[in-house]
Amino acid sequence: MCLPALTASSAYRALEAHAAEASKWHMRELFEADDGRCARFSAEAAGLLLDYSKNRIGDATLGLLMALARDRQLEARRDAMFAGEKINNTEHRAVLHTALRLPRGRSLIVDGQDVVKEVHAVLERMAAFTERVRSGAWRGHGGAAITDIVNIGIGGSDLGPEMVCRALRPFVHPRLSMHFVSNVDGHDMDAVLARLDPATTLFIVASKTFTTRETMLNAGTARSWFLRHGPESALAQHFVAVSTNADAVAAFGIDTANMFPFWDWVGGRYSVWSAIGLPVALAVGFDRFSEFLAGAHAMDEHFRGAPLERNLPVLLGMLGVWYRNFLACPSISIAPYHQDLSQFAVYLQQLDMESNGKRVTRGGEPAGVQTGPIVWGDVGTNGQHAYFQLLHQGTDVTPVDFIAALKPAHGLEGHHLVLLANCFAQAEAFMKGKTADEVRAELQAQKLGSNEIEALVPHRTFPGNRPSNMIVFDALTPATLGALIALYEHKVFVQGTIWDINSFDQWGVELGKVLARNIEAELGGEAKPGMHDCSTNALIARARAAGVR
Ligand code: F6P
Repeated sequence: MCLPALTASSAYRALEAHAAEASKWHMRELFEADDGRCARFSAEAAGLLLDYSKNRIGDATLGLLMALARDRQLEARRDAMFAGEKINNTEHRAVLHTALRLPRGRSLIVDGQDVVKEVHAVLERMAAFTERVRSGAWRGHGGAAITDIVNIGIGGSDLGPEMVCRALRPFVHPRLSMHFVSNVDGHDMDAVLARLDPATTLFIVASKTFTTRETMLNAGTARSWFLRHGPESALAQHFVAVSTNADAVAAFGIDTANMFPFWDWVGGRYSVWSAIGLPVALAVGFDRFSEFLAGAHAMDEHFRGAPLERNLPVLLGMLGVWYRNFLACPSISIAPYHQDLSQFAVYLQQLDMESNGKRVTRGGEPAGVQTGPIVWGDVGTNGQHAYFQLLHQGTDVTPVDFIAALKPAHGLEGHHLVLLANCFAQAEAFMKGKTADEVRAELQAQKLGSNEIEALVPHRTFPGNRPSNMIVFDALTPATLGALIALYEHKVFVQGTIWDINSFDQWGVELGKVLARNIEAELGGEAKPGMHDCSTNALIARARAAGVR
């Protein structure tokens, strides 16, 4: 059932009128006028604290945003997702990544099957396999234990496991080095293979469809490389697969006994909780992987049960709608002040932009409003010395999500204090800015002449009023990471619901999967160059002349 046009809803129109007022506010004044602002605009769940007080909102704003959420039937939509209804309407699929983290003993019947039983049957196989590899019982063809694990996959079959393995670096088994090859660019595979001993390397070929060109080419290259060093009879010890496509796995030559399945109701970008998370389980152990699932489940329970006004994913999602639709912000920046979250922004790019980068509603009508924002970012403090200039003084307003752990995983003296100081200071500066009078006073104290002061004032003034969320947790553990990812998954769902788009298909990317095929054949000389535009024809000719193969 599709919703009426968003812009026709009275809640939306009320927010438009409210935005005209709110755009005159400055957060510095809102804070000065209200000591209780932080306590009122903070909420906590599943080990995460969200301080959203440094946003351009008041109580009325939140009231109106929640009215819009209710108007768009957010609670009913959320319940439909959790219940396994086929909310991915263009592919007629349920969306059940939340079932991947349901505890054993729960039950969820979809199409006559208890999906929780199926999930735990695969988890048990993953646990057994993980234990054998980590203990050294699973051996390479020369009899030595596995030392290197290479995940070959792309998109959701790469970004999640890679990001999580990096984030949980302190928990990784000391004997195991994790590698991730995703790019069809041979430089990626070449650089990884150069560091490996085939006798102690395990490849995981991870692809939901097992047809993705990049992954299949990379897997074939890895297999050929292995066969140059080891016997064909040893392939089963060195190649396992994660897929929904058993026939294609068998055709590739991987024993389906070494295949870990998942299901069409798991979207690629939501699949790290499934067998796609096998590299994570191998790296940190199955118990830690279970804690990761439990952290996400805790966030699921919160999302399902907490009132909208205290609900972290709802708050994060509706604040995003506020900036995207009412205050005209085209992008959001993710700033984890934690080096082990260096891949988090990249991971969120797929999660958010592949989900909500849509221009029509579920019913195929133009969305009528701006939908998914551009998502970008990097770890602090590095970003401060790269693009924070634009965030402070550029012409666009970019809301920032700061993410920080209170306790580090290292024991290096002084570092964490400086890190957190920077994180909190940046958020404060975005909010407050620096007025022309403050700049003048500062420069007068430095004894500058009045002409020079006045020339510098415009450059050294910061407008402030730049919004941010602060997400804080005790330490980056498997459980807090699980909760953090699930928080963003549900945030994306909340926004897709407001915009009435299908957050779970990706037709734009599917196009990319076929686009290159013709040119590939032309470049390879198997097909005569087609009649492309003159630019494409010339590029093909140039590459052929260079002897591309
Ligand atoms: O990039 C498009 C996409 O379909 C993603 O959604 C998916 O995560 C990725 O390709 C990889 O697909 P597969 O796991 O089937 O190889």
